[in-house]
Amino acid sequence: MQIIDVNKINEPNTKLKEKYTQGHSKAYIETYGCQMNVADSEVVVSILNKNGFAYTDELNEADLILVNTCSIRENAETRVFNRLVHFKHLKKKKQGLLVGVIGCMAERLKEKLLEEEKLVDLVVGPDAYRDLPKLVQQAGSGQQAINVLLSREETYAEISPVRLDKNGVSAFVSIMRGCDNMCAYCVVPFTRGRERSRDPQSILNEVQELIDKGYKEVTLLGQNVDKYNWNKGEVNFAQLLEMTAQLNPKLRVRFSTSYPQDMTDEVLYAIAKYDNICKYIHLPVQSGSTRILDLMKRGYTREWYMNRITAIKNIIPDCAISSDFIAGFCGETEEDHKDTLSLMEWVGFDYSYMFKYSERPNTYAARNLKDDVPEDVKSRRLDEIIQVQNRLSLESNKKDVGKTFEVLVEGVSKKSENRLFGRNSQNKVIVFDKKDYQIGDYVQVKVVDCTSATLMGEAV
Ligand code: 5AD
Ligand code: SF4
Repeated sequence: MQIIDVNKINEPNTKLKEKYTQGHSKAYIETYGCQMNVADSEVVVSILNKNGFAYTDELNEADLILVNTCSIRENAETRVFNRLVHFKHLKKKKQGLLVGVIGCMAERLKEKLLEEEKLVDLVVGPDAYRDLPKLVQQAGSGQQAINVLLSREETYAEISPVRLDKNGVSAFVSIMRGCDNMCAYCVVPFTRGRERSRDPQSILNEVQELIDKGYKEVTLLGQNVDKYNWNKGEVNFAQLLEMTAQLNPKLRVRFSTSYPQDMTDEVLYAIAKYDNICKYIHLPVQSGSTRILDLMKRGYTREWYMNRITAIKNIIPDCAISSDFIAGFCGETEEDHKDTLSLMEWVGFDYSYMFKYSERPNTYAARNLKDDVPEDVKSRRLDEIIQVQNRLSLESNKKDVGKTFEVLVEGVSKKSENRLFGRNSQNKVIVFDKKDYQIGDYVQVKVVDCTSATLMGEAV
């Protein structure tokens, strides 16, 4: 997210409406939510660029503000609503300024955003971005502008995203869209539609373009990458990983997100086989209780998940593993919660993303289950999960002290201009003295100290 100086907003400009119809305006985009949204924003900027809209990262220059939104939890939506209220104030200062909601909230709330709330001028769902230039013109001439149609085919395959990252080292590449899993708590199947895979050749072309531009790392993105399936089994995820890794041995390949039920040993062997496929798997478990996993409709048991972890540890011994957890799902008892804590200990996760359950309208859980864990109990359980994870992260990092890792440098440390930071294959952040190293270099770094969040090292 970007920090915005509200005082820098321009004075009213009555020429703006003309601009939209002539296509000379500047678009600013703010992105919330997951990595998929970051990748989508880059597709959106590409589409706008091709249609005469320039991109600006300065809010005060914008004629069009787009907010790429997330619906995953209620507080994600609340943040966006607050932002939209702020942008509505800006519209009063700058005549003709257009504000659009795109992404998951656009899909979930549809015309409500235009009608009830009257906060925005256009609403565009995740499968309708090709329609944006037309919709902006419509909104510019005062018409309702909305397209929230979901598609079974759209993958934006041939669109070459405009990279919005600042470092030129690491990029996201979308390999599929949508999700067919229908976990009981999750809004994603409703906001992002049916699962579909992108043509592997277009993926490889995009990665090759990135290599040619000097990028050193790609992250292949999908809601469930293990379901990647091109042309009825012609190319599966393991094969796509291999094909990507083979493009260049100096290119690091990451991927997200894996799904416990679908992650095959074939994928694990592919990771083990190539030095340049990173030894890191994000494998969200959500709960350690089979009873709760069943209520969540996850399709696997605690034992199945443990079996997958054992497979990872056998096939890729130096692999880091992270997870997502939801505390206080419908019907969760103290015993279920303890099962989650004990599973965390058993796996020894290197890192986790941890959330309180947030009921989302229209999901299976909202329609059929009772959100019956009291707020204070949810908070306490979440705290306990966080405490365990902090300790596990520290234990994991302490084991790395004394080891040397290859680090891909991504930037200058926030705390000191004389230090650089990057990540090792295991996705751990390592900070070390800058010396003559540059962003984008591979550096051998020996770890000398750590906190639960960061490794501190020295280049060797
Ligand atoms: N409430 C809380 N957390 C959720 N997640 C998804 N839906 C919800 C919800 N309704 C979490 C899951 C998922 C991550 C992306 O967000 O842990 O893996
Ligand atoms: Fe991403 Fe899911 Fe949030 Fe949509 S709802 S932005 S898919 S995390």
